[in-house]
Amino acid sequence: MINKMLTDLRDWVDVRFPMTETWNYHLAQYYAPKNFNAWYYFGSLALLVFVLQIVTGIFLTMNYKPDAGMAFASVEYIMRDVDWGWLIRYLHSTGASFFFITVYLHMFRGLMYGSYKKPRELLWVIGMFIYLALMAEAFMGYLLPWGQMSFWGAQVIISLFGAIPWIGDALTLWVRGDYVIADATLNRFFAFHVILVPFILAALVFVHLVALHHVGSNNPDGVEIKKNKDPVTHKPVDGIPFHPYYTVKDIVGIGVFLIIFAAVVFFLPEFGGWFLEKDNFIPADPMKTPEHIVPLWYFTPFYAILRAIPDKLLGVIAMGGAIVMLFILPWLDRSPVKSIRYKGPLFKTALVIFVISFIALGYLGTQPPTPVLTAFAQLFSFLYFAFFILMPWYSSIDECKPEPTRVNFSH
Ligand code: HEM
Repeated sequence: MINKMLTDLRDWVDVRFPMTETWNYHLAQYYAPKNFNAWYYFGSLALLVFVLQIVTGIFLTMNYKPDAGMAFASVEYIMRDVDWGWLIRYLHSTGASFFFITVYLHMFRGLMYGSYKKPRELLWVIGMFIYLALMAEAFMGYLLPWGQMSFWGAQVIISLFGAIPWIGDALTLWVRGDYVIADATLNRFFAFHVILVPFILAALVFVHLVALHHVGSNNPDGVEIKKNKDPVTHKPVDGIPFHPYYTVKDIVGIGVFLIIFAAVVFFLPEFGGWFLEKDNFIPADPMKTPEHIVPLWYFTPFYAILRAIPDKLLGVIAMGGAIVMLFILPWLDRSPVKSIRYKGPLFKTALVIFVISFIALGYLGTQPPTPVLTAFAQLFSFLYFAFFILMPWYSSIDECKPEPTRVNFSH
């Protein structure tokens, strides 16, 4: 009886809305390669963290005051007086760092398996726009607690607009809305952080998934499963339906992720100053500059590139160039194969050097700039750019192994 009612309801909806059709197209009859490994968890984990940030953000907004005179105290109020406020706040602040951890690992997977190569160039570029929006979201969110590092970090980054010739000063004033970081800046950052950028992110994630399901997932072998279909069923022979196989697999990943995440939230929410900086527990003071102004860890590789170059404008250009390189990556890789499994020694070496440089820059960006450390930052910035600029050359002469025609997978 209940079954019949539910089936009738489903049919009623299906006549008016493509519910079953969408379910089948994107889940039950969406064929994904059968050889996904743990690197393929990070897309769904990024999605999970995105939802977590929206939900915790809504609850924070209920008690936060976007007012330069009240913002800092309202965060303390959330931490001490609001029921479960400390948990909501720590979930959100730890969630921000975990968002970047999942997205960086997600991008690294793309680098390893050549997921940016044809036909996934646009998927990668949409991902890069997500990355940009995420950086804007984190930067603006960090001003809201109105601590010393919120204030001075924003001061340093917004003043970079001043390096642009002719219009720099006027532009900086326009972005800040005042002669210094002030209430007007806080109000607009709040509006962007809470409304505009989350909307942009949600739209971009939607488009990212539409593009993904149009071209289909890559996999650790870099084999296009659509090229090899069963003559009778017309389904890819190396594919399995996303639901239930990968929905179940992703739930395992979510379980492991939540254990690690909860451990940090409950036992190490500041993560020794890496997720919440010590200076940010002091209210913003425009009259007192902190000794070292350092952004959070996810920005420091780019901050190190910015500081490595003595000229302000050239530093800004280099920092922007570092992001542009990632955008054009699909057109720099001339390798005939996608996955690192079949790429030659040149690409493998280049990727290792790139990862070391990126992590080293990330560390250097957190340190006060001494002459020796600046020299190291220059060296690693050079290696960062060399990875991309030399890629058309070394990827075309590299000795790759032949790509298999079927995916490698055994139980
Ligand atoms: C909010 C952030 C993001 C979310 C929620 C997200 C979501 C997803 C999901 C669910 C998948 C399929 C599962 C998987 O392959 O792991 C995926 C695939 C992919 N994403 Fe993202 N993504 C995000 C950011 C990015 C960024 C920043 C990039 C790169 C710049 C990127 C590039 C890719 C690529 C190339 C694929 C296909 C990978 C393959 O098939 O091997 N994504 N994304």
